[in-house]
Amino acid sequence: MIRIGICGLGTVGGGTFNLLKKNYNEIFRRIGSQFIIEQIGTRSDNPICNLTGIKVTRNIFEVVRNPNVDVVVELIGGCNIARKLVLEAINNKKHVVTANKAMIAIHGKEIFCAAKKRGVMVAFEAAVAGGIPIIKCIREGLCANRIYSIAGIINGTVNYILTNMKKGISCENILNQAKLLGYAEEDPTLDLEGTDTAHKLTILAAIAYGIPLHFEKIYIEGIGCINLTDVKKADKLGYNIKHLGLSKRKKTGIELRVHPVLLPKNRLLSNVHGVTNAIEINGDAVGSTLFYGIGAGSEPTASAIISDLLDVSRNKLTEHINRTPYLAFSTMATVSILPIDQVITDYYLRFMLISFNMIGHVVNIFYKLGIRIKHLLLKKQESSFVIILLTYSTKEANMNLAIGKLESTNVILGHITRVRVENV
Ligand code: HSE
Repeated sequence: MIRIGICGLGTVGGGTFNLLKKNYNEIFRRIGSQFIIEQIGTRSDNPICNLTGIKVTRNIFEVVRNPNVDVVVELIGGCNIARKLVLEAINNKKHVVTANKAMIAIHGKEIFCAAKKRGVMVAFEAAVAGGIPIIKCIREGLCANRIYSIAGIINGTVNYILTNMKKGISCENILNQAKLLGYAEEDPTLDLEGTDTAHKLTILAAIAYGIPLHFEKIYIEGIGCINLTDVKKADKLGYNIKHLGLSKRKKTGIELRVHPVLLPKNRLLSNVHGVTNAIEINGDAVGSTLFYGIGAGSEPTASAIISDLLDVSRNKLTEHINRTPYLAFSTMATVSILPIDQVITDYYLRFMLISFNMIGHVVNIFYKLGIRIKHLLLKKQESSFVIILLTYSTKEANMNLAIGKLESTNVILGHITRVRVENV
């Protein structure tokens, strides 16, 4: 018998509770044992859940102190209280299943050390990409490979926003819908500014390369700079704008970056729309793989939570000491995380030019820095001009120089919007 304690009964908690009930027989046959929900800790009841006969407490810490609970499912989100709760659960020798990407990305090391000492599992499949079992795919399915790169649409809210911007709807209106649908974080700036994607990329990179959780070293940009003009122009030029968690293994280290990109429409990843997530992983043996599915929301995330509950239950029932390392590798490699200014890529730039006569001045700045222009679109807007440029690849440091020079002249109005182009 497996006794489950659930902390948090919001979108994901409610979905987990209902899915456990709905698919009880299937799950029972898979585990080969009964399981019960021993207790739920929640600030308020969730109207989608029928809690008749379930022990409910308003104090979530009661759940991790309950001697009848074997596995704690942490679904309260946030970092500080969640960390305390999970550490106490571990200290009380309870296995933990969590969807908390921020907590794992920031406090993972401390949590896994504590869990190792107490001999308990900490499973976090639901922390990345909702219903796509990407943690298990990398940790188990691709474990024979040396991973070369990760490119992921791993924030459903932002992908939902960018997809709907193509229909001409403003970011603000779409965000409100994403909130109502339960996709967005409680603090949606975590979605919009790229922090949520960075939490998830931190976890993916750790298990893909066997490196420590390096959240603090990730370069992060959100979608704040993208407007409807960019989305339209990118479309005309043969691209979709996507927000990616990107990591590439280079000779000198590993790139870890989160930012919007122009992705050619013929790339599979470019055709992932709405709340859907997709992750492209390149390994030396397997080549290019793509994992696709719903990345946020109640039942897709619950699907990942319950898959972890099954893992934990199977290990517990057989008194098996789980030998899969928490972060997929038994030893961590020390590698350099490459600074963003070393990245080499093509660029999309948008800015306002005060007069058509100044175009030569702009082109000259790029020419002098060896930056070749692939496309130049010009459109009159009131008394000035909107310029859209696509460049061939150059080092980010070089592009910084060009942008700095242009912005310091008086031929540009305001700032230059820069989006990297992911042609390869
Ligand atoms: N806010 C997150 C997203 C939830 O939109 O992807 C799932 O992690």
